[in-house]
Amino acid sequence: DGVTTIDPGFKNTGSCTSAITFLNGEEGILRYRGYAIEDLAEKASFLEVAYLLIFGELPTSDQLDKFHNDIKAQSHVDEDVKKILDGFPKSAHPMGVLSSLTSALIAFNPSSVNVDSEEDMYKAIVNIMGKFPVLVAWALRKRTGQPLDYGDDNLGYVENILKMMFKKPNSEYKHNQVVVDALDKLLILHADHEQNCSTSTVRIVGSSHAGLFASLSAGINALWGPLHGGANQAVLEMLEAIKEDGGDTKKYMAKAKDKEDPFRLMGFGHRVYKNFDPRARIIKKAADEVLSDLGVEDPILEIAKGLEKEALNDPYFVDRKLYPNVDFYSGIIYRAMGIPVEMFTVMFALGRLPGWIAQWKEMRENKEPIGRPRQVYVGETHREFKEVSKR
Ligand code: CMC
Repeated sequence: DGVTTIDPGFKNTGSCTSAITFLNGEEGILRYRGYAIEDLAEKASFLEVAYLLIFGELPTSDQLDKFHNDIKAQSHVDEDVKKILDGFPKSAHPMGVLSSLTSALIAFNPSSVNVDSEEDMYKAIVNIMGKFPVLVAWALRKRTGQPLDYGDDNLGYVENILKMMFKKPNSEYKHNQVVVDALDKLLILHADHEQNCSTSTVRIVGSSHAGLFASLSAGINALWGPLHGGANQAVLEMLEAIKEDGGDTKKYMAKAKDKEDPFRLMGFGHRVYKNFDPRARIIKKAADEVLSDLGVEDPILEIAKGLEKEALNDPYFVDRKLYPNVDFYSGIIYRAMGIPVEMFTVMFALGRLPGWIAQWKEMRENKEPIGRPRQVYVGETHREFKEVSKR
């Protein structure tokens, strides 16, 4: 009844118009609100980029200060949330912890669901921008068994996150500008990517007028999968396995090409980029710089570079236009910064937060209808019901 085409994976279906992120996969161009990702990664701070994505313009310094102050004013997470955190086993994956706690925040901030006025929407936005980093840091501390830490209003947004993650109980937090700058850059590069799986999830959940936090929680779960944000963890585990196995990259290349083998070269390929992923170029360069600035030598970086070189010269990868994506090198930087591998996708979520918020806000402001795809039914036609005793 009216459904003539199906498009599995929505490979060729647009779901909305959007003025947030421009992406040209053939030419490897990525722009947020018209600004080149290369310029933003080099010159802007993550909080400026968050403001740009959410409100459409780069902030003046007064606007940026106000935004940051409003966020700081909302950065206290109710003490009772800790009880929920306590209930998780230490082995729980931090992505599950993060999505659960993001959902749990709704119970503590029920007014965040009402976003009918611009003011209410702004309140919900600064609320989650303030509380989300706390949840991220707590998810890490749960995992490592460290006492929970609180933010410091005197620190920058990104530095404060690092402080909440890494400050040792009985010592001063040590500021390391290389680490702060590297994280800032990584978060900017992850901040938005138009209608990817998690962002589409946020928009579709939000389209039922579920609140912002509920939509974000759904987005976090979508991001978790290894074909999406979970790839950054999967890449590092893959590189580690190759190292343990004697560093034989050719063996893993052969596995990736074998159609009988489910193994894929993690961190390679992209639905939209068919030439190169501009984010991967920036991250590869940053990986070299950050490791050298921190004096870290990681044999995994050499394995990654070797694998990339082989893949770029291999007809299988060349024919299918498979290139390293944003996740291929990011984990190497996270690791050099002392972030455990299970936290990598959480760091991705932290970066994607402003993008999700911007896309959700745009969807609500555009008064988009509820997302409700159609299907082509291919099951049984009418069947007679038989009582259980007669089957
Ligand atoms: N290793 C080996 N073969 C691959 C890979 C890979 N990483 N990626 C795609 N292919 C092959 C695939 O088997 C198919 O071959 P054929 O035409 O012979 O059947 C062809 O390339 C096209 O792949 P596809 O799966 O139809 O493409 P897609 O657009 O549905 O999937 C993708 C895109 C990113 C899910 C996929 O490339 C992949 O699984 N990559 C590995 C996981 C990964 O790195 N994900 C992160 C993506 S970027 C950041 C993010 O989104 O979070």
